[in-house]
Amino acid sequence: MNFIVLANFKSHKNSSEVESWLKTVAPVSTRAIDKVKVLVAPSMIHIPVVSNFLLQNSNLQLCAQDVSPFPAGAYTGAVNAAQLKEYGIKYALIGHTERRRYFHETAVDVANKARELLSVGIIPAICVSREDIEPQFAALDDGIQNDCIYCFEPPADIGGTVAAPADVIEDTLAMIRRYADAPVLYGGSVTPDNIATLLKTSINGVLVATASLDPSHLNQIIETVSHAR
Ligand code: PGA
Repeated sequence: MNFIVLANFKSHKNSSEVESWLKTVAPVSTRAIDKVKVLVAPSMIHIPVVSNFLLQNSNLQLCAQDVSPFPAGAYTGAVNAAQLKEYGIKYALIGHTERRRYFHETAVDVANKARELLSVGIIPAICVSREDIEPQFAALDDGIQNDCIYCFEPPADIGGTVAAPADVIEDTLAMIRRYADAPVLYGGSVTPDNIATLLKTSINGVLVATASLDPSHLNQIIETVSHAR
């Protein structure tokens, strides 16, 4: 599988900023298409904007930032997996540390979300800190672990400029890989300056938030990855 670069906008950008970002990143991701899979996770409300753009530029792929743990039904405010599927969503982040911290999501909630996504053919990208690994895999049903991808994110390293040390990343990847035979991404202060160092570890991709907001920074990351692979 190609190295994954997943851009997580969190709760940033308006629709015209999303459009101009797409126009800047699409040509670079097209050039890198043989080596890098570029995924973009905008706010839910911008999914139609991105989906329309991607009809002409299929080299970028859409990722949701979350999904309802329930199917269609009386769940006010929730967006279910089948609704995401309608917009061509291929992946969905679940269990991000901010969802766990501010929205009090549990490992069981995250497992329910994974099941909902897999039922419509969307790949769950499950975010975990080191502490989340054991309870998260205990909550996931046997047999679906290998159908997900994983993002190791140390909460203390999110939103800065210094990524976790390589030995911590390798050690945590090994913990995750004991439970699942699946791609594992690293996220937390990934920047154009440290991506080359991160590429020396065995990560299968990066989850990038702050640096992804500036399209020229994300393009630098994509280009560094494509030259190294
Ligand atoms: P960061 O965030 O790139 O701003 O550190 C990563 C994330 O929380 O997904």
